[in-house]
Amino acid sequence: NANPLIDRYGRRVHYLRVSITDRCDFRCIYCMGEEMEFLPRAQILTLEEIAAVCRAFVALGADKIRITGGEPLVRKGAVDLMRDIGGLPGLRELALTTNGSQLEGCAADLKAAGVKRINVSLDSLDAGRFRQMTRIGDLGRVLRGIDAALEQDFDKVKLNTVVLKGRNHDEVCDLVAYAVAKRMDISFIEEMPLGVVDGHDRAEEYYSSDAIHRDLDKHFSLLPTPENTGGPSRYFRVVGTATRVGFISPHSHNFCGTCNRVRLTAEGRLLLCLGNEHSVDLKRVLRANPGDAAKLRQAIVESMHLKPERHHFDLKAEPVIFRHMNATGG
Ligand code: GTP
Ligand code: 5AD
Ligand code: SF4
Repeated sequence: NANPLIDRYGRRVHYLRVSITDRCDFRCIYCMGEEMEFLPRAQILTLEEIAAVCRAFVALGADKIRITGGEPLVRKGAVDLMRDIGGLPGLRELALTTNGSQLEGCAADLKAAGVKRINVSLDSLDAGRFRQMTRIGDLGRVLRGIDAALEQDFDKVKLNTVVLKGRNHDEVCDLVAYAVAKRMDISFIEEMPLGVVDGHDRAEEYYSSDAIHRDLDKHFSLLPTPENTGGPSRYFRVVGTATRVGFISPHSHNFCGTCNRVRLTAEGRLLLCLGNEHSVDLKRVLRANPGDAAKLRQAIVESMHLKPERHHFDLKAEPVIFRHMNATGG
C-alpha cells in the first residue's frame, strides 16, 4: 500500500515505538535518577488512545510496532492492549521491550496476544552488579523471565545490554557466552545522554562498540552480516553458534541515515527523533477530536516534515535532552 509517511530526507517511516507508561520497577542508573518522579495519570494516554494512534499508523502503512516503557508490563491492561494491536491487519510485527521483571508470569499471555519478538534488557550476570546498575532489580527474577519467554517459542527473544566502563564492560564475553548457551541474539548499546542522571558520569563511563568488539574477538569469531531487524543494530554472526551480536552505536557509528522510526511518548507526544525535541502533541489532537480517525491520521502525516536529519549527542556537554528514557521509550 502507498505509504504517505516519508520525511524530508526521503526516509520511509514504518516503525512506531510506543512508551505505554513512564513507570518502572527498576531505576537503571543510565535511564533515570534515584528519586525519579512519575507523571500523574491524567497526563498519560489511556489504553484506548494508544490503540487509536497505533491503528492510525498501521492504516498509514506502518508495519512494525514496538511496545516499550518505562516497564510496559507494570501498566494494568498492557497485555489486553497488545492483543488489540496484535490483530491489526497490515501489522507485520508486534514487538516488546521489557526489563524482564514480570515476564515469568505473563510470557504465555504475551505469546497468545500476538507479540512476535521480545527484547529483554540484561546488563550483568552478577546479582550484585545487576542490583547496582538497576538500583533495585532482581537478577534471578529476570533470568527466570527470560527462560519463560524462551519456552514460548517467540520469533525471537533478544538481549540488550548498555555497556558502561568500570561497571559491566568486563562482562561482555560472559554475556555473549550466556546468549550462545541460550541460542539468543544480544545487542550492546552505547549510552545516550537523555535526561539528567545522578551518581554516574556518562563521559567517563563511555565504552565504545569498537572496544567491545575487540574484547569479543579474543574469545569469539565474529563475522559481519548484512542481516538487519529494522532497528539500529549492526550485526555480526558468532561463528559456530546460533547467536548474533549487535552493536547500537549512537556515538561511534551514526545510524540516523537509515532511520525508519518515530516514537509515541507516554504523554502522547509523537517524537520524531530520540535525540531532538521535534514533536507533535497527539494527545491534544485526540482529546480535541474524540473518535475522529481522519484528523489523527492527518496530524501524523503532517508531522513527517518535522523529522530532523540526525541527533547530535555529546557526552561531555550537559544533556540537552531533558526527557528521561523511561518517558520516551528506549
Ligand atoms: P529490533 O530490531 O526491533 O529488535 O530493535 P533493536 O534491537 O535494533 O533495538 P531495540 O528496539 O531493542 O532498542 C535497543 C536500543 O536502541 C535502545 O536503547 C534504543 O533506545 C536504541 N534505539 C532504537 N532506535 C533508536 C533511534 O532511532 N535512535 C537512537 N539514538 N537510538 C535508538
Ligand atoms: N542510553 C542507552 N540505552 C538506554 N536504555 C535506557 N536508557 C538508556 C540510555 N540513556 C536502554 C535500556 C533498554 C532499552 C529500552 O533502552 O537498557 O535496553
Ligand atoms: Fe526501567 Fe528500562 Fe529505565 Fe531500566 S532502562 S529504569 S528497566 S525504563
